[in-house]
Amino acid sequence: MAHEVKGVVARSKGAPVTIETILVPDPGPGEAVVDVQACGVCHTDLHYREGGINDDFPFLLGHEAAGVVSAVGAGVTNVAVGDYVILNWRAVCGECRACRRGEPQYCFNTHNAAQKMTLADGTELTAALGIGAFVEKTLVHSGQCTKVNPAAPPTAAGLLGCGVMAGAGAAMNTGAVRRGESVAVFGCGGVGDAAIAGAKLAGATTIIAVDLEDRKLEWAKGFGATHTVNPRETDPVEAIRAMTGGFGVDVAIDAVGHPKVLEQAFYARDLAGRVVMVGVPTPDMTIELPAIEIFGRGGAIKSSWYGDCLPSRDFPALIDLYLQGRFPLDDFVSETIALDEVEEAFEKMQKGEVLRSVVVFEK
Ligand SMILES: NC(=O)c1ccc[n+]([C@@H]2O[C@H](COP(=O)([O-])OP(=O)(O)OC[C@H]3O[C@@H](n4cnc5c(N)ncnc54)[C@H](O)[C@@H]3O)[C@@H](O)[C@H]2O)c1
Ligand SMILES: [Zn+2]
Ligand SMILES: [Zn+2]
Repeated sequence: MAHEVKGVVARSKGAPVTIETILVPDPGPGEAVVDVQACGVCHTDLHYREGGINDDFPFLLGHEAAGVVSAVGAGVTNVAVGDYVILNWRAVCGECRACRRGEPQYCFNTHNAAQKMTLADGTELTAALGIGAFVEKTLVHSGQCTKVNPAAPPTAAGLLGCGVMAGAGAAMNTGAVRRGESVAVFGCGGVGDAAIAGAKLAGATTIIAVDLEDRKLEWAKGFGATHTVNPRETDPVEAIRAMTGGFGVDVAIDAVGHPKVLEQAFYARDLAGRVVMVGVPTPDMTIELPAIEIFGRGGAIKSSWYGDCLPSRDFPALIDLYLQGRFPLDDFVSETIALDEVEEAFEKMQKGEVLRSVVVFEK
């Protein structure tokens, strides 16, 4: 019997989201139903609503969530009813080219639930990032459930399901920040601040936060930024060079997703440095760089999907670090909200008033 629950849906491009009745089928083979306890509002949800990801409306939004498994389908062995899990959008297949060569963090064929959740009239929903978690119960592939220590509250744990993992992994996995290195992070939202926290954890000694909002720069200091730059006041490339002996940083991370910012990150880095692109551009964006500069500067330009994380490896480890007081997950939670407040949370995000608004479900 399908469950009837409430969820947040983006029906058409740019239109405000609405609360709808969602039908969640019983889990089929390899699937699981999860009672969502908390789900963060990520900028990617807003990208979906704005049609910036694709046109497969209607979308069931939300994808940064923790909860408890309430049912599993046939053949599921990795989780059981009652397990406390973070939902992930990288359920690795184990069989694709990337998995076979031992790089499952790049899996090209990740698993999602085979069945669709629907509106009450049967219209199939596209689940954001194959999850869809602004909803009381959600249907996922069992591989999308990663068990973690239940001592971590869902408001904090859920954030690892997307933005915080993407940011921290952009620094620790993709950028491979090493002890003593210098790092600049452009954009200090939830993703950027997680990159700052990740760079600190990895031992970076100079961490430069760049954001247009002074309030964001203040918060960034709390996550480990040693210097701040507001591009409204000064040229960020010049400022970053001045802060690093005239050279630029070892790792420059774009956590905005805009060509202008990517260009700044490109020029703000030292010779042989790494540029990491974790912000998501829209399909119409292009960038032009002199080929000789790409060649002459050496190093690498890398994009970072989900912080190149392997959920089964990285989620439990970061949760343990959090429980030991070494990774500040709680500090990302600006406010907890009800399911019907997601639209307001988008507005607050756009005004720069919050790092993460987190939907919590009354149980
Ligand atoms: N690669 C991934 O796997 C992944 C995962 C999650 C989110 N994202 C993307 O990361 C980006 C950031 O997400 P978020 O949730 O932190 O968003 P957010 O809106 O909370 O933060 C963005 C920050 O960038 C700042 N900013 C905007 N323009 C700027 C500029 N020109 N220079 C400097 N700072 C600027 C804003 O003031 C804001 O603080 C988004 O594009 C999102 O889609 C990527
Ligand atoms: Zn694979
Ligand atoms: Zn996200």
